[in-house]
Amino acid sequence: MIKMITESDLKVLIPEDELQHRIKLLGEELNKFYNGEELYVISVLKGSVMFTVDLVKHLKMPLNMNFIRLSSYGSGFTSTGKVNAVDISLPDLNDKNVLIVEDIIDTGLTAKFLIDFMHLNFKTKTLKFCSLLDKKETRKTEIQPDYHCFEIGNQFVVGYGLDYDGFYRNLPYIGYVEV
Ligand code: IMP
Ligand code: MG
Repeated sequence: MIKMITESDLKVLIPEDELQHRIKLLGEELNKFYNGEELYVISVLKGSVMFTVDLVKHLKMPLNMNFIRLSSYGSGFTSTGKVNAVDISLPDLNDKNVLIVEDIIDTGLTAKFLIDFMHLNFKTKTLKFCSLLDKKETRKTEIQPDYHCFEIGNQFVVGYGLDYDGFYRNLPYIGYVEV
């Protein structure tokens, strides 16, 4: 049973200016790391769209932007634990610098699926994983992102790409509801 959340149930966890400031710093860090080399960004739909578009605006190298669609969540608060590939159409990533961009790492199952998928299909030059948010407490795999912007506790968050039953992705901040 899905309980409707209204915007007045939401509390701000990370305000817009903090998000933007941290993302700019991450962009600068990535610019240093890749040092002008070509980069293939793989953005995981739909949750990481906001993060991806804001991040890539700070990146200065020749950049190839790609999107893939996976599903792991049902329509409620908890993960189904199963990751499904809904749409993976990627260019040849052999010998490329690849950066996977995710909204949040929770159990880590999605990240593990993606990293395994990359290793199975390509011999990339480099493969890095970056996530806007990192929920360390709820991890069920050993995966740690190479880069993350914010660590958060075990709370369900929405906004800035993250949804509750498809809604709230448009909020410019990260909000949370108490469950
Ligand atoms: P994982 O496979 O459990 O690490 O979950 C990854 C995916 O679950 C993310 O890409 C999100 O789409 C979704 N997710 C995990 N936690 C939250 C949350 O707090 N709010 C909204 N979506 C979430
Ligand atoms: Mg996601």
